[in-house]
Amino acid sequence: MSLLTIVHYPDPVLLQVGKPVGEDEFGPELASLVDNMFETMYSAGGVGLAAPQIGVSKRLFVMDCSGGDDPEQKIAFINPEIVNVEGEQYGEEGCLSFPGVFTKVRREMRTIVRFQDVNGEDSELDLEELPARCVLHETDHCDGIVFLDRMSVLKRELAKRKIKKLRQTGEWV
Ligand code: NI
Repeated sequence: MSLLTIVHYPDPVLLQVGKPVGEDEFGPELASLVDNMFETMYSAGGVGLAAPQIGVSKRLFVMDCSGGDDPEQKIAFINPEIVNVEGEQYGEEGCLSFPGVFTKVRREMRTIVRFQDVNGEDSELDLEELPARCVLHETDHCDGIVFLDRMSVLKRELAKRKIKKLRQTGEWV
């Protein structure tokens, strides 16, 4: 396994709509990419990592809201599709492409997500709270949407100002 480089905002790949993973792309290469994404996510201390964040403009992400404690929560989502959302939650969110930025973001409380697993098998999950928040955040990445776009205007301006300052001092590359 090897660690991948996480790209930071405003890298253009983060703002592109990812391409669907084709049926012919399932195989050892995809499995190895997914392994490396898990490794990179754990190493960075994140709970989710989407392909655009490692410079690959494709519709897939990995997630583990248990931080490696519960094997059942270690899930790879290929071609995720949000089929239903319900309710609302308002909580702190971070993103590995925005190091040091943590802001409260409004999301739906519950989501049903359809996806393929790493072997190409169709799957569906009904999730609430943190896993739902994470799936919505990571599926956004597959659509070229970053959590900045989900913040209130005020919080977005504050975050942008902070990023600008960090970029000027070379602390954000
Ligand atoms: Ni993110």
